[in-house]
Amino acid sequence: MLTSSPPLKQVFHCPEESDFYSHCLESLVLNATDKSRFIVEFGSGEGSPVIKSLLRSDFDGEIQGFELNNVAWKIAESQIKQYELSQQYTVHNCSFFDSSLYQSADCVISNPPYLPAADAQIYQPLLHGGSDGSTIAKKLLSLDCDQVLLMVSSYSNPVGLIDYALERGYSVANFEIAPLTFGYYSSEQKVKSAIAHLRKQGMAFYSENIYLLAGVLFKKQQKSQRDLSIELIQLLTAL
Ligand SMILES: C[S@@+](CC[C@H](N)C(=O)[O-])C[C@H]1O[C@@H](n2cnc3c(N)ncnc32)[C@H](O)[C@@H]1O
Repeated sequence: MLTSSPPLKQVFHCPEESDFYSHCLESLVLNATDKSRFIVEFGSGEGSPVIKSLLRSDFDGEIQGFELNNVAWKIAESQIKQYELSQQYTVHNCSFFDSSLYQSADCVISNPPYLPAADAQIYQPLLHGGSDGSTIAKKLLSLDCDQVLLMVSSYSNPVGLIDYALERGYSVANFEIAPLTFGYYSSEQKVKSAIAHLRKQGMAFYSENIYLLAGVLFKKQQKSQRDLSIELIQLLTAL
């Protein structure tokens, strides 16, 4: 993987978070018993999470990613070539929402932008998740794909997001959860203030320097489908 990274303001760079996303992708989707064959990804970044999970799993389907940030996209392109994964993983340099590929996908995956702030004037505007941080995640859940893997942050209105998924006919099929320390992007004053404001409204859960991030596999509800939403909400609101 990359030895030197571009400036943090230019490209999303948070190895701890990206590695957890990669791990969740591998365990909840690529190694699942009912394997998806065709996956689309919102916001591939430098491509490392998917590349790492492909190298570790025996998944033989296809993943098509979308990344708006041109610098990140170039890095993803060169890493995909370097690891000879072009047959399995492609990243397009355009907005995810400019394509209709998701309509034929078995699964949508994303570590979406989830920084809450009043507007997108933050270090990296493309990491803005709307005023409560859950806008893009909700948009991805409104596409009606059978399976959606999303990283869900405990400070970005997690209960509102899970309720929205249930209203859209999804259940929480599986999840993994990890504590993360506030990093470069979430420590920006404007973002911190928005998070503190959400906490007062019961929409953000964290301790002094720790928040929780969950990799959540949402599946369209079938009669026999188990639903772990109550367990997930209990854990995400524990801090
Ligand atoms: C939190 S980062 C995740 C990057 C990478 N998946 C990871 O986990 O390391 C979210 C990414 O979404 C990208 N992004 C934001 N809006 C987008 C859009 N409409 N279409 C495609 N990518 C977008 C951002 O540029 C950013 O790279």
